[in-house]
Amino acid sequence: MNSVRYPDGHVLLRNLNRDYPVISHGEGPYLFDKSGKKYFDGSGGALVVSAGHGNQEIAQKIFDQISKVAYVNGTQFTSDAVENFASQLTALSPDPDLSRACFLGSGSEATEAAVKFVRQLWMERKEPKRAKIIARAPSYHGNTLYALSASAREHYKAYYGPFLHDVVTIAAPYEYRSAVEDYARDGGKHYANLFEQALLREGPETVAAFIFEPIIGSSAGASLPPPDYFTRIQSIARKHGILLIADEIMCGAGRSGKFFASEHFELKPDIILLGKGISSGYVPVSAVMVRDSHLREMKAGTGYFMHAQTYLQSPMMAAAGLATLEYYEKNDLVKNSAEMGETLHKLLHEALDAHPNVGFITGRGLFAGVELVEDRTLKTPFNRAKKVAEGFTAHAFSRGLIVWPNTGQADGVSGDLFMIGPPLNLTKAQVKELVELVAESVRSYFAS
Ligand SMILES: Cc1ncc(COP(=O)(O)O)c(C=O)c1O
Repeated sequence: MNSVRYPDGHVLLRNLNRDYPVISHGEGPYLFDKSGKKYFDGSGGALVVSAGHGNQEIAQKIFDQISKVAYVNGTQFTSDAVENFASQLTALSPDPDLSRACFLGSGSEATEAAVKFVRQLWMERKEPKRAKIIARAPSYHGNTLYALSASAREHYKAYYGPFLHDVVTIAAPYEYRSAVEDYARDGGKHYANLFEQALLREGPETVAAFIFEPIIGSSAGASLPPPDYFTRIQSIARKHGILLIADEIMCGAGRSGKFFASEHFELKPDIILLGKGISSGYVPVSAVMVRDSHLREMKAGTGYFMHAQTYLQSPMMAAAGLATLEYYEKNDLVKNSAEMGETLHKLLHEALDAHPNVGFITGRGLFAGVELVEDRTLKTPFNRAKKVAEGFTAHAFSRGLIVWPNTGQADGVSGDLFMIGPPLNLTKAQVKELVELVAESVRSYFAS
């Protein structure tokens, strides 16, 4: 069997109307299905595979750990793997106080743990009214119920709305579609004011935290904030005592050319969330990094962080994270992401800037987004019924190129983009090969 389509087999396939090729193996940025077809994994799946497919060093280290012990209850034991992973990860932290981490199995779980952490902290501080979270649109923080509540994903909310919570939402800076005429000069002030206005409207004494992606992931195609946006956000948050949660699940772990995307903006959040690239997908891992000063407050209060899940601090997950981090360090992957990222962006602009349906290309490091539009001069998005992002991605996939689509960034419903986020150990020749495949796919999709 080389390919599966519902009603074949017994898997609850996500899409009941498409073929799923059966994967055989992967090597570096390439994947091979069972029919022998080769794919360039230009987005590392869902922006996950940071250290390449088929990485024997990482696989061996995970095997070594799980042969000794794969699982212990994180509420009863720690392990060398967990201790070492936490020390090595927090040693990279943008703020020395952000020196503690716990490990979970997915980005969504990390978001849930973070909002619970801030809520508990406010309870410990005897400020029980602080129960609101401010989030942004466009954004994505996960698909569990609070994480989805904080995400600007209207198509999910249309179905799951009755299960969701109220979250205060403000506009996130998305350069291409920003109403601010001089984004670089005035955007920071404009968007930071929206934060302060929301705070004052809600009453700062009722707000627990502000959650945001320092570089927006798939929701706005790796969009960068205006230069002084986070300086302003940080000072407003400090003035009103609001905690900052930086969701770096997609943009972190070296993707943007620095280990933490926050580093680009001298941002020192109270919590940083990592996922995806942190274990390169070898084992599902996410991390919640918190301030030691906050833990000291908890120690003086209840004495423990209430939240836990079965796989909290699992040695297997920690071994995967640690092995990935060691591979990063040995091969200078963050530097490679920055250097190859420059080549990627230069070549993408050369190849696509003149295309009539390419509206915007942005990003940093090996992290890029390309917005596709009907009319470039007017920035008119395609009619959503045309499903351009999905159609383009399927077209590229059929030609052996994997990219990650997203929709909705123009007005919540329309807007088509695709993400590029290959493994961080890409060579220059592979960057060129990737851009050629992308450009050829764009040209042939719109020519047909
Ligand atoms: C920025 C961001 N936060 C959170 C998540 C949720 O992570 P997961 O799908 O691992 O639950 C994602 C996933 O795409 C993401 O991009």
